[in-house]
Amino acid sequence: MSKTIIVTGATSGLGLALIGALKAAGYAPILTGRSAEKVRALSAEMGVPGVTLDVSDPGAIQRVVPEILAAHGPVHGLINNAGIWLEGDFETHRPEEIRSVIDTNTTGTILMTHALLPGMLARGTGVVVNTVSTGALYCRKLISVYAASKWAIRGFTGCLEVECAPKGVRVMGFYPGKIDTQMYESAGIERDLEVAMSPEEAAKMVVFMIDQKDMVWSQVSGRSIRDYQ
Ligand SMILES: NC(=O)c1ccc[n+]([C@@H]2O[C@H](COP(=O)([O-])OP(=O)(O)OC[C@H]3O[C@@H](n4cnc5c(N)ncnc54)[C@H](OP(=O)(O)O)[C@@H]3O)[C@@H](O)[C@H]2O)c1
Repeated sequence: MSKTIIVTGATSGLGLALIGALKAAGYAPILTGRSAEKVRALSAEMGVPGVTLDVSDPGAIQRVVPEILAAHGPVHGLINNAGIWLEGDFETHRPEEIRSVIDTNTTGTILMTHALLPGMLARGTGVVVNTVSTGALYCRKLISVYAASKWAIRGFTGCLEVECAPKGVRVMGFYPGKIDTQMYESAGIERDLEVAMSPEEAAKMVVFMIDQKDMVWSQVSGRSIRDYQ
């Protein structure tokens, strides 16, 4: 039987590419996203189950994860991929924008892991991949809140890695540079994505990390060679 893997934020970009790559690799991905309409259309197009799930809503996580488990049985993997971008001088950000980034990128990742990890630990097997960012490896101006949301996940991922590996569960972090997705545009930011890697290239790496059953790929980072100009 195929291994079930939940992907959050799978209605575009890297998440959607992951659905295709996981399916091609023989896994049983579950496409989740915050827009019911997009989830419905894309799950039909990709031929995979789709579930509406806004990871910034703790109540939704509490309600939806048990529904997924009831419908699909044990979940082998979780890819915490949902994320939003915020860029600009810190003092110009509205408090609700700041909350939204932390609620989605940070608390969403932690609570999704909290909901699914116990089952993996009980079975002594499983995998959690957190999509972090090169923004959590160094400091640069104008991304303080996004960086904070991802630096928190860098710490979370590293600590859980050493806590869970002895129990058979691999918790890993993926730290990509620029990916050619709609993340910046959705945040109202213009970015030259000619130099970015494709979502498919990034997805291939994540599937490789998951596939290597005896390996914990701790902090996997990379960017397109075009991005070194
Ligand atoms: N693009 C880059 O250069 C880059 C670089 C490093 C790391 N990353 C990380 O890669 C991950 C994927 O981003 P992407 O580049 O593929 O961007 P994207 O195309 O904008 O995809 C982000 C996905 O997350 C979803 N999402 C946003 N808020 C959500 C919420 N509250 N609940 C559930 N889903 C939510 C979006 O849904 P909608 O379709 O409804 O908007 C979308 O499906 C993010 O964690 C991002 O931080 C991206």
